[in-house]
Amino acid sequence: MFSTKTYTQRREQLQKQIPSGVLLFLGNNDVGMNYKDNVYRFRQDSNFLYFFGIDQPGLAAVIDLDENQTIIFGDELTVEDIVWTGPHPTLASRAAKVGVAKTLPSGGLPAFLKKAVKDGRTVHFTPPYRHDNMLLLSGALKTAAPKLKEKSSVELIKAIVALRSHKSEEEVAEMERAVNITGAMHVAVMRAVAAGKKESQLAGIAQGIATGMGGDISYGIILTVNGQTLHNHYHGNTMKEGQLVLGDFGAETAMHYAGDITRTLPVAKKFTQQQREIYDIVLDAEVSSIEMCKPGITYKEVHLAAARRMAGGLAGLGLMKGGLDEAVAQGAHALFFPHGLGHMLGLDVHDMEDLGEQYTGYSEGMERSTQFGTAYLRLARALEPGFVLTVEPGIYFIPELIDQWKAAGKFTDFINYDKLDAYRRFGGVRTEDNVLITENGHRILGKPIPKTADEVEGLRSEA
Ligand code: GLY
Ligand code: MN
Repeated sequence: MFSTKTYTQRREQLQKQIPSGVLLFLGNNDVGMNYKDNVYRFRQDSNFLYFFGIDQPGLAAVIDLDENQTIIFGDELTVEDIVWTGPHPTLASRAAKVGVAKTLPSGGLPAFLKKAVKDGRTVHFTPPYRHDNMLLLSGALKTAAPKLKEKSSVELIKAIVALRSHKSEEEVAEMERAVNITGAMHVAVMRAVAAGKKESQLAGIAQGIATGMGGDISYGIILTVNGQTLHNHYHGNTMKEGQLVLGDFGAETAMHYAGDITRTLPVAKKFTQQQREIYDIVLDAEVSSIEMCKPGITYKEVHLAAARRMAGGLAGLGLMKGGLDEAVAQGAHALFFPHGLGHMLGLDVHDMEDLGEQYTGYSEGMERSTQFGTAYLRLARALEPGFVLTVEPGIYFIPELIDQWKAAGKFTDFINYDKLDAYRRFGGVRTEDNVLITENGHRILGKPIPKTADEVEGLRSEA
């Protein structure tokens, strides 16, 4: 946990941006996995963590701007609770650690909210994403659950985004810890990859390090010989010589700041020539994209430059052709690069995605592309000092997509479909680092993790 001052200052800055009403923060609750008492790993809501820091289920908080008071709602443990869970500090003492003097039983929250509504005051809340909190809000605010998202407070969302987008020095230090744990996970996996092993053995190694370092994984581990499937969480394949393994995984620290790194490596000790050619194109796009990162440039520009760079590399191999600026403008590159270059990173791996990407990743008046590929760009707006983001270009050979585009005769001026037969079993390559935007440029977070093909092969040769 940060110091009391950090949390009080964050709330003060928030309060300055909204003149009146009640700001509501619903913490998360334990959720039953297959029955009530066998719960998923508890993960506190990130907005609650940011402003109130208490990492415990069953809490909510209000900042009452009209009455100038802040209250945390939650229940003290009974002796019967203590029999099962052991003693814990009181809620009142935890609240004091984050600078909140008043606590009330959780049962009082619905009545508090109903009264605020009855008095004609605005209750500002963020879009709920958990059903128990939707039910609570729906009852207290007399709003049908499907309408809650549109009734959430744009004022509050924008105020939170303005604060959470700029990481403080202590947050950057915590994120650097997350990236270094993530680096240790990747190096351990790189050493352990071998033909005959299952993907699940490697995923277990990565998970073990994240847990062992006091935190956990920051999102479901992607560790697969089928890297062409972007969010692939299946770990049942046995690795074979000649395949690539794509590992996209990261740790979140005990304070829940996330790392998100991707490396791709050969199951064999060395890349084949075909693998290394594609690997080097992706690496070149990643390195050149990172070089472009500085305040003022829009991330959409960086994304499109990465797409052009990879289209150029693919043309060098004869897989693309024609005017490549035009190919990228029309979206032909998305056959190979069908996702965005990156996203904000922080307490969430896709930071603040619950608040809506139109606020976290796009500035006012900036239209989100509807074109396949670029439409998935989560971060497009101009970069500012203090942003932490991912840079993660990739090239994939997705047989189903290739077949569909080929059959439809799509972009035949830009794509040499006949040459793609030799890549049908290739899989995918992605390389990803976490980058802080500084006053004058950028800084890659964490200690370097083997990245060039030579560095990866060097580590693999020691294994
Ligand atoms: N690490 C997975 C993603 O960025 O979507
Ligand atoms: Mn990512």
